[in-house]
Amino acid sequence: MCGIVGYTGPRDASEVLLSSLRRLEYRGYDSAGIAVIGEHLAIHKDKGELAVIEHSLPSMHGGIGIGHTRWATCGRPSQENAHPFTDCSGTIALVHNGIIENYAALKKGLLDRGHIFSSETDTEVIVHLVEERNSGDLREALVSALSDIKGTYAIVLAMEGSEKIVAARKENPLVIGVGVGENFVASDVTALLEYTSKVLYLMDGEVAEISPSKVTIFDASGQTVRRVPEMVTWTAEDAKKGGFAHFMLKEIFEQPEAIRNTLIGNVDRLEQDEGVLGEDVPAIKLVACGTSYHAGLVGKYVLEKLGKIPTTVELASEFRYSSDVREDPLVIVISQSGETADALAATREARRRGLHTLAITNVVGSTMTREAEETMYTRAGPEIGVAATKTYISQLVALYLTAMRIGHRRRTIDADTLRNMRTELTSLPQVVRRVLDNSESVMEACGMIAQSRDAFYLGRNISYPVMLEGALKLKEISYIHAEGYAAGELKHGPLALIGPDTPVVAACMRDHTYDKMIANLSEVKARDAPVIAIANEGDEEIEQVADKVIHIPEVQPLFSPFPLSVATQLIAYHVANLKGCSIDKPRNLAKSVTVE
Ligand code: AGP
Repeated sequence: MCGIVGYTGPRDASEVLLSSLRRLEYRGYDSAGIAVIGEHLAIHKDKGELAVIEHSLPSMHGGIGIGHTRWATCGRPSQENAHPFTDCSGTIALVHNGIIENYAALKKGLLDRGHIFSSETDTEVIVHLVEERNSGDLREALVSALSDIKGTYAIVLAMEGSEKIVAARKENPLVIGVGVGENFVASDVTALLEYTSKVLYLMDGEVAEISPSKVTIFDASGQTVRRVPEMVTWTAEDAKKGGFAHFMLKEIFEQPEAIRNTLIGNVDRLEQDEGVLGEDVPAIKLVACGTSYHAGLVGKYVLEKLGKIPTTVELASEFRYSSDVREDPLVIVISQSGETADALAATREARRRGLHTLAITNVVGSTMTREAEETMYTRAGPEIGVAATKTYISQLVALYLTAMRIGHRRRTIDADTLRNMRTELTSLPQVVRRVLDNSESVMEACGMIAQSRDAFYLGRNISYPVMLEGALKLKEISYIHAEGYAAGELKHGPLALIGPDTPVVAACMRDHTYDKMIANLSEVKARDAPVIAIANEGDEEIEQVADKVIHIPEVQPLFSPFPLSVATQLIAYHVANLKGCSIDKPRNLAKSVTVE
């Protein structure tokens, strides 16, 4: 869950490393560090965000270097536990993302053999093992060390006296950036975009030797691998804030385009019958974590409505515990990053059970795209804010398209309905734009939430999972405890908590759930709780039960999750902003959760 980078070439390595790490801070930000090799190896690292080490940066000249931004898993955030680590001689530097499961036993052996450790981390054992095995060839030393290691890793190493950096991966991403007379390596492509669009993805079990003029990749058996570099279409500008106060707000406002791009990338397959979605399966299971799981919950309604196909949704971290008895021959794993450890483990488990797997992801070349049988890309562009927004809306589009495709194949929707749904999807960018145009008035409703410790989010039918996601978004970035509830469940327990200090955000769409929602809100009002209703434009009746109304455009009921989700994202954003929270990098969280 950390961000790692490496550089070898004619530039000042420290500048390249810091600039690349800035793009990776979303992966972790409790400590950071760089190692640069000039005449000698020099290391600068500290606890805190990258800015801390930038401000105190000593003069570090040299064209070879590695860097790291950390999200602590083993050992608290501290200067000692920050990467890079060096061996006892101080000539080899290493950064690592992942977990070394057998580090305690390895460390004991190394201590017995006289190695001195400076940190509490699992990572440090690797550099000491490399030191023991090193007879001048850094790659060979690393390969030998890795043979003793159990766990997961993306590793980059540099050594005094060598212009080569060495990289290895197992279940944690690494991508090599190919330049002219210089080369790079990083946890993901956003860190490289400023320098190159030409990339080589490192696969599990591979080790790479990277010098300024050459990249050589070796497979697990030590054979060289021929791989042609791919061109990345994302630009450096795509990964910058573009005038918005926060990446999250920029990404919320990019949603019309994200919807359009997901559509453009996938809509032409609606009437195709090939691949895993062409199979005649009796049931579907959606598997994901966090926000992606909530997208799956919305997807269940749509798949069952349009495809008339029984659909279950399971948390990826729980999938392995489920009994292998149900008939869900198609597992759709949803993950914006394609690197979430729990989602990857679920993909592998599904394959182990002999099930078809389809990945819905945003990141081209991510591990999941190689693990799953097929991939559907959401094409939302890079998402930097830790809170998923545009990738979530794109996942919804992908799931709607999947449901339409299955409905068409199973003849549960006719050609007219398919056309109609397609038109509705195509109009969503404008619908979302209208919600965004209303952002200032959403802000007016946020004061009463910002002052509270707890909040409730209520919805019925397809609005229910949307409100679960709304509550998650608020928790994540404003640190206000928020619970999403099916509105009908309120009186079965949580009503005991409702009072003047617990604002209730309610989805009141003008559909067959409307009257029941009004009744639920009356129960809430009777307990003096402040009510913020998200209702359709032109709805005046709602004013009788709501203290504040956020109006959103009315669409066909099945499509209401789109404007509704955007309204809840804006609420979370404005509340967090009013509270002065660290919106793009909320405490304790990381963008890509690569530990289980
Ligand atoms: C989203 O706002 C959250 N940060 C988090 O729940 C996220 O959705 C989850 O970790 C899954 O990530 P993925 O989609 O990359 O697999």
